Amino acid sequence: MSHKHDPEKWLPVFGKDHAQNKEVERDDDSTRSHRALAAEAADGSALDRLADTLLRSDVPADLREAARDIHSLLLAAAMAGRPDETLDPHDTVLPDGDAISPESAARCVLDYTRTSQFLRGMRLALKAALERFSERPLDILYAGCGPFAPLGLLLTHCFSPLDVRFTLIDIHELSLSSARRVFEAFGRGEFIGDCWACDAATYRHPTAMHVVIAETMQRALQKEPQVAVILNLAPQLKEGGILVPEAITVRSALYDARHEFGPIASARIRIDLGPLLELDAENARDLLRRIKTDAAGARSLPQGCLRIPAGLDPELRLMLRTSVKVFGPAALDDYDSGITYPVHLHKLGSCGPRRELAYCYRLGCKPGFEVWWPSSAAPSSPVF
Ligand SMILES: C[S@@+](CC[C@H](N)C(=O)[O-])C[C@H]1O[C@@H](n2cnc3c(N)ncnc32)[C@H](O)[C@@H]1O
Repeated sequence: MSHKHDPEKWLPVFGKDHAQNKEVERDDDSTRSHRALAAEAADGSALDRLADTLLRSDVPADLREAARDIHSLLLAAAMAGRPDETLDPHDTVLPDGDAISPESAARCVLDYTRTSQFLRGMRLALKAALERFSERPLDILYAGCGPFAPLGLLLTHCFSPLDVRFTLIDIHELSLSSARRVFEAFGRGEFIGDCWACDAATYRHPTAMHVVIAETMQRALQKEPQVAVILNLAPQLKEGGILVPEAITVRSALYDARHEFGPIASARIRIDLGPLLELDAENARDLLRRIKTDAAGARSLPQGCLRIPAGLDPELRLMLRTSVKVFGPAALDDYDSGITYPVHLHKLGSCGPRRELAYCYRLGCKPGFEVWWPSSAAPSSPVF
């Protein structure tokens, strides 16, 4: 079974419709820059220059243009000699969530703040691992690499293949063969070890790993299998091994819809109610132990409750906020990326006089939070 890609996955969002319009422009530009880049593509200098922009620039327009050019360059490399092929547009439904299609995965690079922050964090993570461990090359597992494996490929000019080696995993075989082709096209094949077309939520690595990277997520950890993937892979790290992203946190907050979508970000109201889930290497084992399975076989984390302070404006509404700490200072917060776009819980209405909010994280093929007012029969107002 397959279904359409959620465009919020990769769009840098300032408002959904606005961002979608931008995509139409992007494709036109991509075609143009695609031709211009082809000439300098062969020796990898264009790739490294564009990667450096993503690693160093703080100018959004430059980041966006670099991401577009990288998408064009990698697509051309992946499709070279295959004029009749396209990337598969079908998602795959897995037992722990949807794996987005090779076509959609290729476009993730266009979510430029995400790509830039992940590259910065991953670079620091690899440097930290090189200092922490003496074995060479470092054993790095890249789960959900997609057809370009950008979070490895775009760092190859910063490291030696004697020091870092990636094992690539993706559920889509086509993505793996494309990723290998792209590495080889830029003379970076030595950075790749094994490639496995398998489910990262159940994969067993033969030895403990130095670094694991996985970005198989959507905002509020819904739909895609990031939680299951991390709960499987984090315990397979070496002692002191590094997980990228270091931590993903979903929190609930009250917000004021009248100030949320205006031009002044600082006018936004946030009354934090606390975390619903914190996902990092340290608490992965604990979360695994806490998973409950009901009589029908449905798995979830234990239900929780958040207190709502008294005396607040009853018109305030609820949102789920996702923050991603990639590594060190590299991070993504509200509206930075499709994966950290707040989920506005419209169905729950305004908070009124209520003093508590109940929630539960559901695992399985449709992962995500259920959130409800405890006064109603639980969970009467599932969010997703
Ligand atoms: C969001 S894309 C990321 C692509 C690329 N790593 C990037 O950051 O631009 C997620 C990728 O993970 C793959 N994927 C998702 N869940 C998976 C799973 N459980 N096992 C293996 N691959 C998975 C999808 O097929 C897709 O290629």
